[in-house]
Amino acid sequence: KQRILTGITTTGTPHLGNYVGAIRPAIAASRRDDTESFYFLADYHALIKCRSPEQVNQSTREIAATWLALGLDADNAVFYRQSDIPELPELSWLLSCVAAKGLMNRAHAYKAAVAANEAAGEDSDFGVTMGLYCYPVLMAADILLFRANQVPVGRDQVQHIEMARDIAGRFNHHYSSGDNPLFVLPEAVVDDQVAVLNGLDGRKMSKSYGNTIPLFLPHKHLRKHINKIKTNLLEPGEPKDPDDSTVFQIWQAFATPEQTAAMRQAFAEGIAWGEAKRQLFELVDNELCDARDRYEQLLGHPNHIEDVLQQGADKARAVGRPFLEQLREAVGIRPLR
Ligand code: TYM
Repeated sequence: KQRILTGITTTGTPHLGNYVGAIRPAIAASRRDDTESFYFLADYHALIKCRSPEQVNQSTREIAATWLALGLDADNAVFYRQSDIPELPELSWLLSCVAAKGLMNRAHAYKAAVAANEAAGEDSDFGVTMGLYCYPVLMAADILLFRANQVPVGRDQVQHIEMARDIAGRFNHHYSSGDNPLFVLPEAVVDDQVAVLNGLDGRKMSKSYGNTIPLFLPHKHLRKHINKIKTNLLEPGEPKDPDDSTVFQIWQAFATPEQTAAMRQAFAEGIAWGEAKRQLFELVDNELCDARDRYEQLLGHPNHIEDVLQQGADKARAVGRPFLEQLREAVGIRPLR
């Protein structure tokens, strides 16, 4: 069986980019008979970016409710919170001891933070922490503890999966015996059509850019957000370039191939931006409206969400713990008592 694993950092409210890049493909994959799915809430990762305990907590509940509302079957998949798995930080340390520092220096997220920090100078209020620097190692632990072979992610996370492969390869090289490698080398699974969904301003949709369209906005607000998507000044009747348009890109992520072809044609014929956005709103709203109702209901039952996550943690640890024992033994540390 293929083992699929992915996570979402619990800062802020999930947005359309998270949905098309990670959650939707992951839920579809969890329904196949030939797969086992491990999906989790990356709340240790959240601490790197967010120092508001209330926000981390709230976001964890929201993201959990999002997965469940969108149809993740928690009996079938293993659905858990990263911080409920103490084996993860322990494995992260074992991996840190083989991960090359030069590899970490090349991480895009780290390089961007160093540049931003230098640009901000005295005004920088966050600085570059060890947490940020070690982020890819913790992420490698997330993946490797469960010997996942497929990791569905957006394009922005591909480098991190490659780092996990590199770290796994080094560990295997040092510690595996014969042709029985300890770690499985994971592969990123990127849906090319929606590898990076753009946000309101045309840059990658991202919590850090403040340009997101949250997934479960009430109708009226969803319409308002979609109306705010930046467009060029072409008038109705003037042909528009679909491949240079966020409206079209989001359309494509939600539409059937026939609907996409029809919209491409409408762009060539000069559809007005207002009309294109109206149709986009209908399409997105239609796909999400039932899940939005379930989401609102679930948020009213935090104890239920907690129960689901605890059961998930038990299942995840039943897999992770014996494997960590094996890894401890492989590096020469006494077995756990
Ligand atoms: P995060 O929380 O930034 O994003 C969660 C998932 O959503 C995808 N994504 C997008 N996809 C398409 N278009 C976008 N605009 C867009 N924005 C975000 C991301 O690629 C990601 O798949 N470090 C990870 C969380 C993590 C993880 C892991 C993922 C921790 N450990 C192990 C996989 C495996 C992160 O911060 O994702």
